Amino acid sequence: MKTSLLNWLAWAALCTCALAKQPNILFIITDDQDGHMGSVEHMPLLKKHIIDQGTSYENHFCTIAICCPSRVNLWTGRAAHNTNVTDVGPPYGGYPKIVKEGINDDYLPVWMQSAGYSTYYTGKLWNAHTINNYNQPFVKGYNGSDFLLDPFTYDYWHARMSRNGEAPRDYSGQYSPDVVADKAYGFLEEAIEGDAPFFVTVAPIAPHSNIVANPPSGPLNELEVLAPGPVNKFAIPEYAPRHAHLFKDYKIPRTENFNPEQASGASWVAQLPRLNDTMIDYNDEFQRARLRSLQSVDEMIERLINLLEEKGVLEDTFVFFTTDNGFHASQHRMHPGKECGYDTDIHIPLVIRGPGIAAGATKNIVTSHTDMAPTLMSLAGASRDDFDGSAIPLLEDHESTEVSRGEHVNVEFWGIGLPEGKFGIAEPFGGLSYPNNTYKALRLVGHNYSLYYSVWCTGEREFYDLHRDPGQMHNFFADPQLAKDYTIAGRSWQQLIYRLDALLVVLKTCKGNTCVKPWNSHHKNGSVETLTEALNPRFDNYYMKHPKVGFSSCELGYIKEAEGNRERISHAGVQWQTGLEAPTPEGQQPFQYRGSWSDWV
Ligand SMILES: *[C@@H]1O[C@H](CO)[C@@H](O)[C@H](O)[C@H]1NC(C)=O
Ligand SMILES: *[C@@H]1O[C@H](CO)[C@@H](O)[C@H](O)[C@H]1NC(C)=O
Ligand SMILES: *[C@@H]1O[C@H](CO)[C@@H](O)[C@H](O)[C@H]1NC(C)=O
Ligand SMILES: *[C@@H]1O[C@H](CO)[C@@H](O)[C@H](O)[C@H]1NC(C)=O
Ligand SMILES: *[C@@H]1O[C@H](CO)[C@@H](O)[C@H](O)[C@H]1NC(C)=O
Ligand SMILES: *[C@@H]1O[C@H](CO)[C@@H](O)[C@H](O)[C@H]1NC(C)=O
Repeated sequence: MKTSLLNWLAWAALCTCALAKQPNILFIITDDQDGHMGSVEHMPLLKKHIIDQGTSYENHFCTIAICCPSRVNLWTGRAAHNTNVTDVGPPYGGYPKIVKEGINDDYLPVWMQSAGYSTYYTGKLWNAHTINNYNQPFVKGYNGSDFLLDPFTYDYWHARMSRNGEAPRDYSGQYSPDVVADKAYGFLEEAIEGDAPFFVTVAPIAPHSNIVANPPSGPLNELEVLAPGPVNKFAIPEYAPRHAHLFKDYKIPRTENFNPEQASGASWVAQLPRLNDTMIDYNDEFQRARLRSLQSVDEMIERLINLLEEKGVLEDTFVFFTTDNGFHASQHRMHPGKECGYDTDIHIPLVIRGPGIAAGATKNIVTSHTDMAPTLMSLAGASRDDFDGSAIPLLEDHESTEVSRGEHVNVEFWGIGLPEGKFGIAEPFGGLSYPNNTYKALRLVGHNYSLYYSVWCTGEREFYDLHRDPGQMHNFFADPQLAKDYTIAGRSWQQLIYRLDALLVVLKTCKGNTCVKPWNSHHKNGSVETLTEALNPRFDNYYMKHPKVGFSSCELGYIKEAEGNRERISHAGVQWQTGLEAPTPEGQQPFQYRGSWSDWV
């Protein structure tokens, strides 16, 4: 407590933002909410109370597009390659892995308590956090908690929840997001009555797919909890009957990447057949149901904001709204789902309102979920030195900090792609659906460029220029013609790729400040902070010879040995790995992988 007070005094002295005391924080996080199908525009109360009163971060990204690893990233401020929680269930993820990695003892709510906060949480915390293991051990860090538990987490009408460590209670017949909204209201009331500043998190499951669990007859083992039986499906989300009449005419925006005539992407995405009309109708209804499920969250937002206002604390409270990862449905010919590196899956809403934050504003600085824990800690007047991200400057003049914040987002994924909905081929976890969904990617957003570069475990690569190609439809690696006359800052595509790859080499194993300032690993004296600077021809030889990102095999988790160079090797030793050729699953057209890395070096 003493250190936290000192920290806070030091912060208060330095802070230019004139916050009189540690502010309260209300953090609302939805589940799988898309940023690219207009879901936010269909939440009028979110707009009224948070978007119009706060600032939207237009370049906000998750770093790993799946719930549990993304939430671990969010609540630790560490990249997934540093938490090694890379999946939703054992052996690579889920609550047992979180406990094993020491994260239950050492993550944001614990730190916020040390900083003097009262902490509350209701909704889904992790995956594989179950009716059997919720007390093995109990979740740490919360003064009040009420957690949704597997295998009922995504069962909209049969939630089971454990309150403050008590035995799970069955909420069958009640609508899960409404149950969570009531609990949130209660915790917020309790928090407001207390003397300490509060950090209240609300995590309803909307608009996640519905997963009906078989009621277990006895204790479940870890894997059974994830796949209790054939009833278990990633089905259309359920909504409250009061919202059934809404969005009857809604259709998913027919963007260029909507069920395109030409396949796009790489690895399994490039192999997908076109969706037929039945599937497209189904996906439209799937998304309508997601929007309806979000109405319960929207109503909750109004209730919570009204409560803060009635109690006179709204002006002392920061309210965050975001989601864990994005979602696609029909884009790139995909069934509903996530787990991809495309903007549909990683580019997500982040809106913040609070004292000193501009109302109705948008900001273009690049931010990611890795920055959330540092941001929340800095509001509490505290900090740590093991963060892989940095606090988002909420109150300062953002433009002046843009360059020093960096342009990059480090995106990663290990495991499978899991199509959801009734046409998704997956029985979850029963058999692997789309294996080889392991990749490293870099999203780079500068003043005048917006780029995506990825390297797959199969050896395939992707590059998209999102200013020309916002739908990420035209992969330069699949069509060298695209690269022919392309220049950026007057430099060729080949020179650009050398830089992006070398940046990704640093990011894929970075830790701490290296993740925040990755160019420093290439230019020790801090002379290069942006891509444009790195493109200087003086560095051509260095970047050309730099070891390249590569995998030696496709693994379902973070297996170091499979991931090629992990250390930056002196450019004297030219040794890059091209990985493996693109796979050709039986009975499918071979993927025309024109242009291999070696064509360009
Ligand atoms: C919240 O929990 C922490 C850690 O157990 C404790 O120090 C603190 O006093 C609690 N706050 C309240 C308001 O009970
Ligand atoms: C689309 O494909 C599904 C699955 O094979 C099938 O059930 C459906 O009848 C097809 N619809 C059309 C219009 O072909
Ligand atoms: C971006 O614009 C700046 C000037 O605003 C220019 O100096 C730089 O070369 C441009 N970079 C790219 C990659 O186009
Ligand atoms: C930093 O590196 C750049 C590029 O190599 C060089 O031009 C500059 O002189 C260096 N500055 C210092 C202070 O060493
Ligand atoms: C996945 O990649 C491996 C190479 O790591 C390859 O042998 C296998 O055929 C691929 N599987 C599929 C279904 O594409
Ligand atoms: C990550 O966890 C998995 C599963 O426990 C383990 O096999 C792997 O070696 C770990 N990776 C690293 C880099 O520690």
